[in-house]
Amino acid sequence: GRTEPLLAGKSVALLFSKASTRTRTSFEVGVYQMGGLGTYLSAADMQIARGEPIQDTARVLGRYYDAIVYRTFKQSDVDALARYSGVPVVSGMTDYAHPLQVLTDLMTVREYKGKLAGLKAGFVGDGYNMANSLIVGCLMGMDFTIACPNGYRPSADVLFFAREYGDHFKLTTAPDEAARGADVLFTDVWTSMGMERETERRRRDFNGFCLDAARMALAKPDCIVQHPLPAHRGEEITPDVFETHADEIFDEAENRLHVEKAVLGILLAGK
Ligand code: CP
Repeated sequence: GRTEPLLAGKSVALLFSKASTRTRTSFEVGVYQMGGLGTYLSAADMQIARGEPIQDTARVLGRYYDAIVYRTFKQSDVDALARYSGVPVVSGMTDYAHPLQVLTDLMTVREYKGKLAGLKAGFVGDGYNMANSLIVGCLMGMDFTIACPNGYRPSADVLFFAREYGDHFKLTTAPDEAARGADVLFTDVWTSMGMERETERRRRDFNGFCLDAARMALAKPDCIVQHPLPAHRGEEITPDVFETHADEIFDEAENRLHVEKAVLGILLAGK
């Protein structure tokens, strides 16, 4: 459909300290479709890389831009950017959380299932940023079981939050428990950005945590699969499961664009 020029005259900084395909391009296209200017800023090419504090970068960018999207490692750097910039800051992912991806996942699940309430969701993989954000997002109405190997649990504060939801939340080391009866199954890479030196150890530790056909057979027959991408076929998901569920996964990727436009519209339209 037609996009209203809700960002006409507005500028959005897209500041990235980590690689990105979807987040970068969907924001660039989304801001353009809404009539604004999106500027991609690689942190590696900025004075941040030579030690300029994030607080100072924030106070400069906040004088030029109407909002900032920031992908980086430490959540505390996103928090500092938000505190010092004086403009809305949107997390494009940190080591702690990936909120836009999970908003997108919830949108996609609702597109396929017509609802969220009462569904059974499962996650098989690393208790890292996607797991943290999925716990918060999925517990808005769904039952959620997360299966991680020992030593790869989600953040303690997120698990504390989940305790409020009683039997609607379960943490296990048995991936089949997350799959059994599921309406939607989520997974993510075993080795996230910045952890490359741990790749071999992680392959050993996550052995048995793959979404394969046998595990999918435990889920409901119409179970959908969500993966934020990029996917490592043969690690967290088999090539056949990926291709069987490719429409759902690439609808999910498309929905990043729609969710980000909605978020920017809420933050900036009419301001
Ligand atoms: N899902 C996601 O965040 O993809 P990118 O790392 O390519 O931005």
